[in-house]
Amino acid sequence: MCGIFGFVSATGLPVRAVVDALRTLEYRGYDSWGIAYSNDERLIVYKQAGRLPGEVPSLPSTSVALGHTRWATHGGVSDENAHPHLDCTETLAVVHNGIIENYHPLRQALEATGHRFRSTTDSEIFAHLLEELLRRSEREAHGATPVESEMRVVTAVRHAFERIRGLNAFIIMHRPSRQLVAIKSTSPLVIGIGRAGVFVSSDAIALVGHAERIYYLRDDDVALLSAEGPRLFDRCTGEPRPIRWEPLTVHPADTSLGGYPHYLIKEIHEQPRVIERILRERLESAHELAELIAKSYGTFLVGCGTAGYAALCGSYLFSRIARRHVNAVIASEFKYQEHFLTDRSLVIALTQSGETVDVIEAVQAAKRRGATVAALVNVMGSTVSRLADFAVPLSAGPEQSVLSTKAYTAKLAILLLAAHFLNGSEHVGLDVLWRAVEGMEVALAPATLDRIRAVADRLVAAEHCYVIGRGLSYPTALEAALKIKEATYIHAEGFAGGELKHGVIALIEDGSPCLVFSPLDETRPDILSGAMEVRSRGGWIVGISPEPDEAFDVHVPVADVGDASPLVSIVPAQLLAYELAVRRGFDPDRPRNLAKSVTVK
Ligand code: F6R
Repeated sequence: MCGIFGFVSATGLPVRAVVDALRTLEYRGYDSWGIAYSNDERLIVYKQAGRLPGEVPSLPSTSVALGHTRWATHGGVSDENAHPHLDCTETLAVVHNGIIENYHPLRQALEATGHRFRSTTDSEIFAHLLEELLRRSEREAHGATPVESEMRVVTAVRHAFERIRGLNAFIIMHRPSRQLVAIKSTSPLVIGIGRAGVFVSSDAIALVGHAERIYYLRDDDVALLSAEGPRLFDRCTGEPRPIRWEPLTVHPADTSLGGYPHYLIKEIHEQPRVIERILRERLESAHELAELIAKSYGTFLVGCGTAGYAALCGSYLFSRIARRHVNAVIASEFKYQEHFLTDRSLVIALTQSGETVDVIEAVQAAKRRGATVAALVNVMGSTVSRLADFAVPLSAGPEQSVLSTKAYTAKLAILLLAAHFLNGSEHVGLDVLWRAVEGMEVALAPATLDRIRAVADRLVAAEHCYVIGRGLSYPTALEAALKIKEATYIHAEGFAGGELKHGVIALIEDGSPCLVFSPLDETRPDILSGAMEVRSRGGWIVGISPEPDEAFDVHVPVADVGDASPLVSIVPAQLLAYELAVRRGFDPDRPRNLAKSVTVK
């Protein structure tokens, strides 16, 4: 959460580059934003609550600048609490992603020594702590070598970082030396180098157009960016270390809207191409994943939110296709269930960002117990991709809407393939997935869209919406409800169809909308009975199914694609969430209170 970005340029760069980068990073948090840059005399800061405005004041060029887009944790959403935060002398500017867990005693101690705080954030502490350490090192600096003097800021940052607890990433600007220092623990940071200078960001996509080569900082690194270029040091010892650059493989076209009004609708439409790419490029990985599962004694799929529903769907897929019991556990609950992990267990982390802290913790717990860790991850280079013993790239391309869509279906495709490899029925898996690609195209075609739009017109003022499915479609119901909740703020609940009569049906009243997933599998008779029961109590039934039925008030036809039905059936629900968000006047890409990478607990 929180997007951070900075640059140092010997030739100078427009400060606007920071604002543009923040726009790219806005999906990480959008409560408030701010920038700081250095002019000849002092640090200039602009910061304010709210989203980045379309137009920002005219900004000059500078040699060093940084910025932040915030998802509030400590301290309310206000101009004062927006980052960057300055020290008392206004020579240091700090942007932060994370939570300083021991902020309270640190703040008290700093206030007692005379530091004046301007915000109620935990982040500001770091600026004052650094100021304190730099002041002390200045007093001791007589006789220091030029190298020692140059390293003063890095050393102070290392020592300040040792004093704080929690998962944190910082970029610090030291105005007098025109240096940036970057340091992190678990929260991501990536540095990049290009023709115009050196850059640092919480996400590689903000480096597109600036950097040709990148390096993901490790927790034991500290990076110094100056006009001389980037340098890396060991965070504990301060010893220099080489930077192992890799090419930046994201291209500007991957991050643009490409003619769509929002990223959500763009990414929904990209899904058939993503599945095609998996079918062409990821068969070997799916095969290796199947081998790992075959060797393991106990496999656990872990993920959060949408990725958690992909995990649940995976457990159904492995059960029905490969006759294999694979556990699905919500990553944030994993620590309460990890006790039976052994060195023969396999934990498969499902994560788009690779930075979700609950997933990282599950992975770390698995490693402590000697289990093997595999990951299905979209952002390669992310923490989970690096922690895993075996990482399968989802190949979905950057997912910029806060709502996950294409990474969800990509995970399902890989799990379905792995289940078929495990069962020795690879050809069947390939066949249903190719049919799913076609089925997704049909679900995205104007005929389906017309039906969805008619449903959206009817639901636009709804307060509640229910979604039911059974078997493979149960996770689909949960995921559909989540998409509707996030995008539209309509209270939507997904249920296993069989649970209706155990309590849920009490909620149904005249006109209650209910989406029903009814693929042509063994769940059909039972789910249709459930739909009928809802209908006879006044429910308004939208059936997402290859075949019509008398239980449906509206039928949204989808292709019959066998066990790949979860990939196809979810598309109309994604489209419905999008259409409803637009009709209700909400930004489908930036739902309130949410952020894309959940890097705090
Ligand atoms: C929902 C959504 C979230 C994420 C969850 C996990 O649309 O995006 O529920 O799926 O926060 O994120 P990753 O996959 O990055 O670990």
